[in-house]
Amino acid sequence: MVKIIHDNDADLAPLKDKTVAVIGYGNQGSAQALCMRDSAVNVIVGETETLDDKPNPSWQRALDDGFKVMSISNAAKTADIIHILLPDEFHGPVYKKHIRKHIKAGKTLSCSHGFNIVFKGILPPEDVDVIMVAPKSPATEERKAFLAGFGVPGLIAVRQNPSGKAKEIALAMAKAMGFTRAGCLECTFEQETFEDLFGEQTVLCGGLVELMKAGFEVLVEAGYPPEMAYFECVHEVKLIVDLIYEGGIQKMNSIISNTAEWGEYEVGPKIITPKVKDAMRKALKDVESGKFARKWLKESRKGSVNLKAKREALGQHPMEVVGRQIRAMFERA
Ligand code: NAI
Ligand code: MG
Repeated sequence: MVKIIHDNDADLAPLKDKTVAVIGYGNQGSAQALCMRDSAVNVIVGETETLDDKPNPSWQRALDDGFKVMSISNAAKTADIIHILLPDEFHGPVYKKHIRKHIKAGKTLSCSHGFNIVFKGILPPEDVDVIMVAPKSPATEERKAFLAGFGVPGLIAVRQNPSGKAKEIALAMAKAMGFTRAGCLECTFEQETFEDLFGEQTVLCGGLVELMKAGFEVLVEAGYPPEMAYFECVHEVKLIVDLIYEGGIQKMNSIISNTAEWGEYEVGPKIITPKVKDAMRKALKDVESGKFARKWLKESRKGSVNLKAKREALGQHPMEVVGRQIRAMFERA
């Protein structure tokens, strides 16, 4: 079994007298910056004051949260550890424009997803440490768990270690964000990047959304009320997943009815057939070969037109429309 790193295996000392620049105060940036600051780490924020010719709300938010906020270039110049938390598709261009000239020997380049190191959006010089410190969680849950005195699990990886201290710095950052309270694993950049992309595409985001959508559509097309279909195929997913999170699938099975459990064994494999695994293997190949990354970066360079169209179309899907109505009803109750 892989070794799980806990609080006792990590020390905050390597961050003492160091400045960490969190580049990008979005979902992860805000959560990680706040957690590190609460752990007495000296954190500054690098942001752009405007984005797409409009004031960037993240700039103001970082100021409101009491951070020293500066341009990305200034933050990269000032900091010892440059922790890039921009959307992955912008790491490459922003690095080239604002960070590259400030990344000097003795500094550490850090991120929460290995995408741009693995797919070469960023080519760091050999004399800097390159690490990854990543939560296995969305940002909101990460901050919530930290404030509750615990943390979410995390991953660390070391790509370049000319200082000989790269791992200690990664561990210190993981500790400062509470990841070592829950447990941290050390992996390679490739493992994190490939596993993360595969997981979000086939199970967590892509797979789950298509599964819920298919179930919702089948019921509605058969004449069942969309509200009922929503409760059944979308809303209840959380309740089921919470049980799995707490005690595994067996705990969930012990709480649902015997009828539901029998249906799981009897019908589940007829829905998620061996063909699904074949498709997953193909998705994994496309991730590992870089085919998925090339297509996504090309899409992003063209202004993410297809991404925006799909986002818009999903908002019009009856499942989302009825979901909005139901949630509004709950809020009023
Ligand atoms: P985000 O979408 O919240 O954006 C971060 C910030 O980047 C924004 O607040 C914005 O001010 C800035 N930004 C956006 N476009 C920019 C541009 N063109 N130029 C300069 N600045 C720009 O990012 P998110 O989702 O927090 O992801 C950050 C990193 O964390 C990524 O590497 C991602 O893979 C990783 N990650 C994200 C997780 C998540 O739950 N969202 C989970 C684990 C890792
Ligand atoms: Mg992920």
